[in-house]
Amino acid sequence: MMMFKEEENGTALRFSLHGHWSSRLVFVFAVTGSAVGLGNIWKFPYIAGQNGGGAFVLVYLVSVFVIGLPVMMAEILIGRRGRRNPIATMALLGEEEGSSRQWKWLGFMGVVAGSLILSYYSVIGGWTLAYVPKSIAGAFTGTSAAEVEAIYAGFTGNWLSVVIAHSVFMGITILVVARGVERGLEQAVRFMVPALLLLMLILLGYAVTSGGFAAGVEFMFTPDFAALTWDGALQAIGQAFFTLSLGMGAVMAYSAYLPKEMSIRRASTSVVIADTAIALLAGLVIFSLVFANDLDPAEGPGLVFVILPLAFGQMAGGVFFATVFFVLLGFAAFTSALGVLEPGVAWVVERFGRSRLQAASLVGGVIWALGLGTALSFNVLADFSFLRGTIYQNVDYLTSNVMLPVAGLLITFFAGWVMCRNSTSEELGGAGTSYKAWRLLARYVAPAAIVLVFLEAVGIIG
Ligand code: PHE
Repeated sequence: MMMFKEEENGTALRFSLHGHWSSRLVFVFAVTGSAVGLGNIWKFPYIAGQNGGGAFVLVYLVSVFVIGLPVMMAEILIGRRGRRNPIATMALLGEEEGSSRQWKWLGFMGVVAGSLILSYYSVIGGWTLAYVPKSIAGAFTGTSAAEVEAIYAGFTGNWLSVVIAHSVFMGITILVVARGVERGLEQAVRFMVPALLLLMLILLGYAVTSGGFAAGVEFMFTPDFAALTWDGALQAIGQAFFTLSLGMGAVMAYSAYLPKEMSIRRASTSVVIADTAIALLAGLVIFSLVFANDLDPAEGPGLVFVILPLAFGQMAGGVFFATVFFVLLGFAAFTSALGVLEPGVAWVVERFGRSRLQAASLVGGVIWALGLGTALSFNVLADFSFLRGTIYQNVDYLTSNVMLPVAGLLITFFAGWVMCRNSTSEELGGAGTSYKAWRLLARYVAPAAIVLVFLEAVGIIG
């Protein structure tokens, strides 16, 4: 993200030297780095498993393209037009488009949702980091399913290790955002996403020979609508937002320094396809291995942390692959976390005149403290249950299934109804067929789908 800030001064030089091609790729890599993370590899398989597979996957895919893609285009065009942090951008455009500065609250809600998400994201990011030394030490070599389950339960059941891992993850995120060294990291994303993709393909090769591949494919791609509830459909929509980093100002912030001539439609499509491909690959690998080992696809948040170590423990070169996998996943989680912390930090810096270090410590510190609730909900507070379950389950539900869809609804409303046609068509490169398709989705289809599923899920209609 800093990269785009630096371009504020260096834009002319940079773009005349490298042309549009380079800048478009840089942007796509940055947004893909934010999108690809724990959402694809940890969360998607576990919630698909809990919701019976096929039908959930289908609703997820439809949501990604019918809701996620137009919302992403809306966020990018708003971000590019406002060229400020998400809160200031919404205030500015609200006024400019003849509505109200109060749209800043939408930007504010995004920062709040992002912070709540980061509070638990950091806990799971910590698990990923903690699995690196375990992998190097060969802890999974030759283990049985019961043994990897015991490793997972032993680790997550120990509150101190979970809190330490969460603190390390959050601490690094705060330091990197504070020092503004994202530039180097964004470069590394160029290798990280392809490397992760390659590793998933290697794992897919292993999964194909595992004996569970046919069952995995069937579980993921045979829709059994009896297994899907309206609540599950809402989770699929929430997952589309979560995995694409939408609804919390992250993509909007990235877009603030995007060159005018870049095609928003093409950039968004690339990101959406890359992100979806990685999630589907992860699902195929994990469910094949679940069925090959007679395990339960609905096991929950521990799914990936049990299934993959089990497979690594059995395959040739497993210590190496396990280490590389958890390093890459930790890195992917990390690039996503940076994008969530940045809007809040940028806002505190601009609004309260704090230094980046102060702002990052303050915002990050609050998020860290909130994250303790999630960290403890896997051990000492595991039995403390209200509304939707543990603290983690409540924070997750509130953010992914309520705040993100509501934010998405308001973003499409803003881009489709509040902004005038000229503004949006100018950003989206003319009023051709693809613009008309976007406007149809943004004005009618996406909002209607969100409202319908939401009302059905909470039981107001049905
Ligand atoms: N999209 C990221 C993932 O799938 C998570 C994320 C959410 C990142 C929100 C930024 C903002 O892991």
